[in-house]
Amino acid sequence: MSNDTNVTWHESSVSRQMREKRNGHKGCVIWFTGLSGSGKSTVANTLDHKLYHAGYHSVVLDGDNVRHGLNAGPGMLKATHGEEFSNRFGLGFSAIDREENIRRIGAVADIFARTGIIALTAFISPYRIDRDKVRNTLNPGEFIEVFVDAPLEVCEQRDPKGLYKKARAGEIKGFTGIDDPYEEPLAPELVLQSATKTPDILADEIISFLTDKGIIHA
Ligand code: ADX
Repeated sequence: MSNDTNVTWHESSVSRQMREKRNGHKGCVIWFTGLSGSGKSTVANTLDHKLYHAGYHSVVLDGDNVRHGLNAGPGMLKATHGEEFSNRFGLGFSAIDREENIRRIGAVADIFARTGIIALTAFISPYRIDRDKVRNTLNPGEFIEVFVDAPLEVCEQRDPKGLYKKARAGEIKGFTGIDDPYEEPLAPELVLQSATKTPDILADEIISFLTDKGIIHA
């Protein structure tokens, strides 16, 4: 059995500065948060597309995709070492499972940022404390919290996956915004009005912010 005290942090011989110099921009985490159906993934992917074509290095970590792999649910994990494996490490939607979901994503996003990459994360991340913990693992200015602000009624109207309907029918319990909380950010770096503006315009708002902060160049 390994023990925490037997684990040592190794500094990379290729520094972050070297990577950022070669990339021509800084690494950071752009943390999208908002209700299901608010447009987090759509804006993140639109931004990713624009950044790619402008020559920047970015990556999208998206809730639904990550929950198929790194953070797969208990039923999706193959229990090679017995049922306990999938029950212990598979993640659902209880508060504690969402906390662990966000912790793991935060750790992965942090690795990308240190590697000089612009990491775009699109998770509901409903709890302020979980988002703030990720913020605190990064240097000041490297965690850009983007609140994708669409009223619940709009998200429910869109219902791209039909999940609000199921939640209203009681077929899904603990659905964010219906019978589970969503804590809006108190001081996000950006608020995107996704009910009234297009993903294209919203992605441009983020690009302006990144340019103003010197993370990318005009
Ligand atoms: S988070 O709360 O832990 O940040 P995450 O962003 O990974 O959630 O996953 C949210 C997605 O999972 C939703 O867009 C929806 O497709 C699906 N989902 C399934 N069950 C729930 C639920 N109970 N609450 C919210 N989303 C759910």
